[in-house]
Amino acid sequence: MISRRNFMKTTAAGLFLPALVGRATAAEPGAALTIPDVIDTRGGGLESLDAITGKSSILQGAETPTIGYSQSYLGPVIRANRGETTRMTLGNRLDENISVHWHGLHIEGAQDGGPHSMVAPDETMDAVLDIDQPEATLWYHSHIHERTGPHVWYGLAGMMIIDDPDAANNGLPDTYGVDDIPLVVQDRNFERNGNMTYAPRGPNLMMGYRGNEILVNGAIRPEASVPAGLVRFRILNGSNARIYHFRFDDGRNFQQIASDGGLLQAPVMMNKLTLAPAERVEIVVDFSDGKAAQLLSLQDNNLEMQMMARMIPAPTAIADDGAFEVMRFSVDMAKPAIVTPLPAVFAGTPDPDFGEPVRRRIFSLDMMASGGGGGMMGGGMGGGGGMMGGGGHATAINGVSMDMAVINEEVKLGETEIWEVHAAGMAHPFHVHGTSFKVLTDNGRAVDYATTGMKDVVLVSGITEILVRFDRKADADIPYMYHCHILEHEDLGMMGQFTVT
Ligand code: C2O
Ligand code: CU
Ligand code: CU
Repeated sequence: MISRRNFMKTTAAGLFLPALVGRATAAEPGAALTIPDVIDTRGGGLESLDAITGKSSILQGAETPTIGYSQSYLGPVIRANRGETTRMTLGNRLDENISVHWHGLHIEGAQDGGPHSMVAPDETMDAVLDIDQPEATLWYHSHIHERTGPHVWYGLAGMMIIDDPDAANNGLPDTYGVDDIPLVVQDRNFERNGNMTYAPRGPNLMMGYRGNEILVNGAIRPEASVPAGLVRFRILNGSNARIYHFRFDDGRNFQQIASDGGLLQAPVMMNKLTLAPAERVEIVVDFSDGKAAQLLSLQDNNLEMQMMARMIPAPTAIADDGAFEVMRFSVDMAKPAIVTPLPAVFAGTPDPDFGEPVRRRIFSLDMMASGGGGGMMGGGMGGGGGMMGGGGHATAINGVSMDMAVINEEVKLGETEIWEVHAAGMAHPFHVHGTSFKVLTDNGRAVDYATTGMKDVVLVSGITEILVRFDRKADADIPYMYHCHILEHEDLGMMGQFTVT
């Protein structure tokens, strides 16, 4: 037995773990997909969410120590209604500070659950969430400075669904767990004894920590039984660093209906889809032909240095293009199915008018902090300072690493701005708290809002311009964050704080 007192120290500390040993325990795919329990806050009431330790059956013949929100691994899906106030008591039965950040929720800094909103061991905190934004698939996760990577890796994350009782009914599949299915996709590493390994070092720290096993809702390459009709999937990339490039094994088309901030203006037909860490997408897949299918992904080649590619854990390829299996689907003809096509346009999708921007800010995502002893790359392979050697490394934005005591930017409430985000080298998923934004350009080329919708994470490679406006406040005591959502980069300092007043 691992006591809760020792769990985070022995398992999550990382530093004391043996090196990555690869897949030693046979991992059998095909476990039934788990449909997460729901905490339904719609209509009011006080709910609770507690960070706890647990044991999860992920590998055959072994138990995996994990953590979760009110369950052994990950958390329930939280449903909330627009126009209501969601109230929850957040508890912590772990032995270190945690938080519950509401990723994508438009709420004031004081409600946002970021690094300043720590819940100490054996303490509780009241979450009061004033929900007022379009229906969307969001998520929540712990967000403690320098600890977000291990917290999410070991299980402190879950999905949140915002419903709008007044929104137009576009005939979308919405029977939870039947034709409206949440999929939290993550990659993980395991030791022989079943323990998850979190040991980001060297290139696995510098380029983000990836795993060689793919979990969906906490099971390895599971199988979902779906009706013979249209099925909506709400997909969250809950991985620390891995970017997925999804496609189906039979190349079938599917329709994207929503992105981070909610419904698109119209469904977009596609046969492949890239999803960076923390991004969400809703897709509708047609299973009316009754055929089984596999969801695959291409390998993630987002690396600062290509020569290190073979040092990065990679799931086993099953196709010529290197694609690996994420999960599979079988069709149950007996399930009630929606077979009517989606509307050509979604009624009621907002196209927010941001007005003219009054200011431009530049955010350069830096793999090393300026002026710091050697920085991330400086030490070189031989060690001795720098990231590769294991000491004194930091990432930064505009040359400055995250400092809990420093406010990096001050933004005026209701003013529209262009944020110009720069990433040289590898691509970084840039996330902004407290709002959703429009992506304007990607390396000088206009981005079509109709196909991207409202976003709160955008994968930046080169220069991306986004149009932002904040309609909620955040003061200097509990500011908002902007950061790279590769969690190892975030934990190393690629994050900044801003107020909205
Ligand atoms: Cu998903 Cu600042 O976080
Ligand atoms: Cu967030
Ligand atoms: Cu990054």
